[in-house]
Amino acid sequence: MSAAVDIVSLSPHVKSFIGQPHKVLIDGRWQSARDEETFEVFNPATEEVIARVANCKKADVDLAVAAARKAFDSGPWPNMSPSQRGRILWKIGDLILENLEELAQLESLDNGKPISVARAADVPLAADLFHYMAGWATKIEGHTLALSVPYTPGTEYHAYTRREPIGVVAQIIPWNFPLLMAAWKLGPVLAAGCTVVLKPAEETPLSALRLAQLCLDAGLPPGVLNVITGFGETCGAPLAAHADVNKVAFTGSTEVGKLIVKAAANDLKKVTLELGGKSPNIVLDDADLDVAIPGASSAIFFNHGQCCCAGSRLFVQEKRYDRVLEGVSDAARKIRLGPGLDPATQMGPLVSKVQFERVTGFLKSGKDEGARTVAGGGRHGNAGYFVQPTVLDGTQENMRVYQEEIFGPVVTVTPFKDVDEDLIRRANDTVYGLAAGIWSGDMRRAHRIANKLRAGTVWINCYNIFDASMPFGGYKQSGWGREMGSEVLNNYLETKSICAAI
Ligand code: NAI
Ligand code: MG
Repeated sequence: MSAAVDIVSLSPHVKSFIGQPHKVLIDGRWQSARDEETFEVFNPATEEVIARVANCKKADVDLAVAAARKAFDSGPWPNMSPSQRGRILWKIGDLILENLEELAQLESLDNGKPISVARAADVPLAADLFHYMAGWATKIEGHTLALSVPYTPGTEYHAYTRREPIGVVAQIIPWNFPLLMAAWKLGPVLAAGCTVVLKPAEETPLSALRLAQLCLDAGLPPGVLNVITGFGETCGAPLAAHADVNKVAFTGSTEVGKLIVKAAANDLKKVTLELGGKSPNIVLDDADLDVAIPGASSAIFFNHGQCCCAGSRLFVQEKRYDRVLEGVSDAARKIRLGPGLDPATQMGPLVSKVQFERVTGFLKSGKDEGARTVAGGGRHGNAGYFVQPTVLDGTQENMRVYQEEIFGPVVTVTPFKDVDEDLIRRANDTVYGLAAGIWSGDMRRAHRIANKLRAGTVWINCYNIFDASMPFGGYKQSGWGREMGSEVLNNYLETKSICAAI
């Protein structure tokens, strides 16, 4: 964080992109908000304003939804062959890779994440998602059905199902992986043949705007993708409630997920949700600690703990407890904090002042409730939203730090005696069910535990492994539906049965 750090110098493309007045994409044209209002975008490492974007509200939402409706009902998109759609998706993936460095710099600047991570994970994963979904565009298939209708004896039928795009989709995404979350949402919705209004988070709108231009460059017809920037209550809420939207796909807080459900209830539009987590990460006594300790550390500290699937409740079998507690704490102390654009940075700042205050509030609550801070525990430096990687020991099941999603670099570590029903109960004792980790040298034990965990993803001897082919999503209050894999296509398709008497 000192002035001496060797900050990546921004590419001329990034400089000119952030310097320009940012408009939003509606009906294939870049436009200002109707009322011309804008809002500021910050660099979380310095708290400086880096850009201004359009502050869209209901009038802009109406225009964007109307454009998506028009593009769905008429125009080139519904008449394109699946192969043509797939080629556009593939091209979007290619353009992301061609602009990898620029997108990584934007992401690091806007979100605060280490440039090394954006280069190695966020941007390539986003490209891969489009490449993967490009293949699905031509493989969306129904079935032929063998009917046995009891009250029409002798009649033969030709019956089959078609899978059709659900229509106009509203997608509302968060700030923790801004480009990747846009890709997770856009890849399948476009493969399915829907049209979309995407609203990135107000904290991190830049990479979605850049991606929108790449989608146009790839040949996406006007109105198929509309990207509007704005705040949750004034832009997200009217979008989620819009009568002409057929489906809402949301990633963010469980609290807002519940608001989305209420907003969609009026006209029963379909909803999928990818929400919070408080994921258990379990180290058995037979685990290879040379793998499990760095693994458990990165399970919580990756992306500054700003992961819905962060391994935030670490359970360690008694015999190994002291070593793992000390090992993870030692790893936490060694993490190099700094601005995302410093290539040596391992952990950047939290995304915003609000998140900084939320996470440091949890640290205070942990101390007040009697948890012991083994590493970290407070702010790092005195500028930017940096929080020290923190390890808490001695937490109790009723403490807020143990129960609630912190969404910051804070892990609770607790011992367990045996691999028994009580361990499973404790691991599952949360309103969430997004992910879990197990570290063991005995695959039989690990798989038996995996089967009992109420979580959408279970990692064994690894963590935070994502792939376009692997469904991701939550049990319980972690959400409805899945992202990625072929499963995500269900979010954007209706099934039609066609039955002909022949
Ligand atoms: P949030 O849920 O408020 O924001 C996510 C998105 O929802 C943003 O695009 C926001 O503009 C939009 N939004 C907010 N209110 C809305 C409304 N009433 N109607 C429609 N859209 C709305 O999350 P926030 O406030 O940024 O973070 C709060 C907490 O949420 C975090 O501390 C973390 O626990 C959790 N979170 C979970 C994420 C995940 O990946 N599951 C991602 C981000 C936050
Ligand atoms: Mg919020």
